[in-house]
Amino acid sequence: MQYQSIFRPNLFQDQTILVTGGGTGIGRVIAHELASLGGNLIIASRKEQSLEKTCREISDAGGRCSWHTVNIRQEEDVEKLIEEIVNAHGGLDMLVNNAGGQFPSPAEHIKQKGWHAVIETNLTGTFNVTRAVFNKAMVKKGGSIVNIVAEIRNGFPGMAHTGAARAGVVNLTKTLAVEWASRGVRINSIAPGVIDGHGLSQYDPAFMKSYIDSVRAAIPAKRLGTESEIAAAVTFLLSPAAAYITGETIRVDGGWSLWHKPWKLDDHNLSNSFDGFSADDETDKT
Ligand SMILES: NC(=O)c1ccc[n+]([C@@H]2O[C@H](COP(=O)([O-])OP(=O)(O)OC[C@H]3O[C@@H](n4cnc5c(N)ncnc54)[C@H](OP(=O)(O)O)[C@@H]3O)[C@@H](O)[C@H]2O)c1
Repeated sequence: MQYQSIFRPNLFQDQTILVTGGGTGIGRVIAHELASLGGNLIIASRKEQSLEKTCREISDAGGRCSWHTVNIRQEEDVEKLIEEIVNAHGGLDMLVNNAGGQFPSPAEHIKQKGWHAVIETNLTGTFNVTRAVFNKAMVKKGGSIVNIVAEIRNGFPGMAHTGAARAGVVNLTKTLAVEWASRGVRINSIAPGVIDGHGLSQYDPAFMKSYIDSVRAAIPAKRLGTESEIAAAVTFLLSPAAAYITGETIRVDGGWSLWHKPWKLDDHNLSNSFDGFSADDETDKT
């Protein structure tokens, strides 16, 4: 189970790195890649079982990994966790905000509870972790942060809540890149297109079947992305190869955002045109 990174061995030797949501999917592969490059990995999310399993895989492959349970929505728990990590490891050099989740729904059917849940996980949760890591570790020693968002160039029809939350994180990325530059912190985001793996398997199979068929047809690469392709982009942004990149969001989507029409437009005649010369008024416009 040794992960084959395309980056050089020992790139992250002795760097302590926290990956939220590192027990499954994209986060799991990011943790494998960073550990294979010498990183001291800490993964955290709500479910013990997947965290334990992923850490065991990494340790069996010769890497270093420890895990903690946390719900990133809970500010106090996040603060406690980061304190504990910094005390145990003497600091925290890198952070990957990968934990997130959402559910498909047309906007008019999203209830306030569902809206809040998605915003709290993807936007507030990301902020909770990022602020705690900055204040408790990076304010003194600097560091590098990568947020996983989503491809939202044309909004996110069908998932308005996560589109809004991710747009918030993209903007936060720019703000923090400026506010924290003088502390030696770089912060960037990766916006995945549609990535095959654990995350997709969590959606309703009937929804996925119709969605994936239409999505695949609209991706210039004519395939879904892999979790390793996201991990490689994260590795690049964390590494010194990206030393002059901050506040940026990089799409990893096989060209999907350039081409796709993410929402079926029903035919209608409800768009009234405006022409100032034929408006109903007495003024002579010639
Ligand atoms: N797959 C795609 O096509 C795709 C596309 C765009 C963006 N993304 C984003 O990429 C990230 C990884 O997704 P994935 O596809 O790998 O799906 P995934 O396997 O479901 O990963 C999501 C991870 O987030 C953790 N998590 C969720 N809510 C949490 C909370 N409140 N506190 C702590 N941890 C929490 C989950 O662990 P627990 O359940 O143990 O808490 C899980 O490990 C997510 O932010 C996802 O939205 C994925």
